[in-house]
Amino acid sequence: MFGDVVLISIPYGALPQLGQDLKSELAGRIVLDTGNPNPERDGDMALEARRKGTGVASAEFLPGVRLVRAFNAINYQSLQSEAHRAGEPVAIPLAGDDAQALAVASELVKDAGFEPVVVGPLSSAKLFDVGSPVYVQVLTAKELRARLGL
Ligand SMILES: NC(=O)c1ccc[n+]([C@@H]2O[C@H](COP(=O)([O-])OP(=O)(O)OC[C@H]3O[C@@H](n4cnc5c(N)ncnc54)[C@H](OP(=O)(O)O)[C@@H]3O)[C@@H](O)[C@H]2O)c1
Repeated sequence: MFGDVVLISIPYGALPQLGQDLKSELAGRIVLDTGNPNPERDGDMALEARRKGTGVASAEFLPGVRLVRAFNAINYQSLQSEAHRAGEPVAIPLAGDDAQALAVASELVKDAGFEPVVVGPLSSAKLFDVGSPVYVQVLTAKELRARLGL
């Protein structure tokens, strides 16, 4: 593993084990977490993660990292088709407790051709989890903020 920023995109049920296995390697790094808990795929832990919200749940699975929830609320087709689109960019909601990590994540979102919208701390990741009104919706930053009442 290398780099200052690590993006984790694996089935959510594998996150606890990965957090254990890579604990020392990930410690202190900025980690972008895209995972969405899905009970059919990930079992009962997904229900608990959805109840808590992924920002809170993932932080428990990834101790010591500078966690940012990112790119979980856009599906892979839109990620490809909407990157760097003409006109207003598509918004990517972000949540994190570390201001510097959020700033780095925001730059990466822009580099990827989208517009970052910092929703709030990790506890606010629930606002754009599965089942929320913005989940996998293709929205501009203005539309996203309006739907979330930001
Ligand atoms: N697909 C989407 O549109 C989308 C959108 C937003 C968020 N997400 C979320 O992003 C995550 C990844 O989604 P995906 O569709 O890319 O899933 P995926 O195709 O099932 O898995 C992606 C990667 O996870 C790795 N992986 C599988 N089991 C693992 C384990 N036990 N330990 C470590 N790595 C493991 C796989 O590695 P190998 O190939 O080496 O097995 C693969 O590279 C999920 O949590 C999903 O809910 C997906």
